Amino acid sequence: MKRLGILLSGRGSNFEAIANNVKAGNIAAEIAVVIGNKPDAQGLETADAMGLDAVYIPSKGLKREEFDRRVVALLNEKQVDLVCLAGFMRLLSPYFVHEFANRIINIHPSLLPSFPGLDAQQQALEHGVKVTGCTVHFVDAGLDSGPIIAQADVPIEDNDTVDSLAARILTEEHRLYSEAINIVLSGRYRIEGRCVVRAT
Ligand code: GRF
Repeated sequence: MKRLGILLSGRGSNFEAIANNVKAGNIAAEIAVVIGNKPDAQGLETADAMGLDAVYIPSKGLKREEFDRRVVALLNEKQVDLVCLAGFMRLLSPYFVHEFANRIINIHPSLLPSFPGLDAQQQALEHGVKVTGCTVHFVDAGLDSGPIIAQADVPIEDNDTVDSLAARILTEEHRLYSEAINIVLSGRYRIEGRCVVRAT
């Protein structure tokens, strides 16, 4: 059984969707550890309540790589195969990316490469695009910049607010992330340059 490591900083609704799919047998993996870098991350509480191994590793005051070394050590100790960033609000160091090369994925609430970084839903509204969505991608040392595994589109409605749009995107995120995890776990793809090409 493959082993997932989840990294989060806050609410943890994507983590919860993944955990529910693992429980339901829709993802052929187990969650080996959930790591949070914020003391009040709701996702850590949820993980704990679900009986999962929930570990708080403070990032405050640590140099990027120093924190990442602690996280990588724990991921290795827990024999994690695939790292899933789920609302993890930190860039990874080249060290971390190298240690888990092509074994780290992230979800972002826009159709990348549009609107990377913070407040992606607000960026989309302000830009006036008619369609946005969410993206699951491999993680490199850049900001939301690695090869794209899966995307889902969400049309923008005339009366959308950041909250209403974010809520509709989130529903898609919860479905898409597990789908993308299954693609990666299946191993039935290859990465060619920026492209994730699925095997037929
Ligand atoms: C999601 O919108 C995700 O796309 C982004 O951060 C948010 C995390 O939400 N990376 P949650 O903590 O999973 O509820």
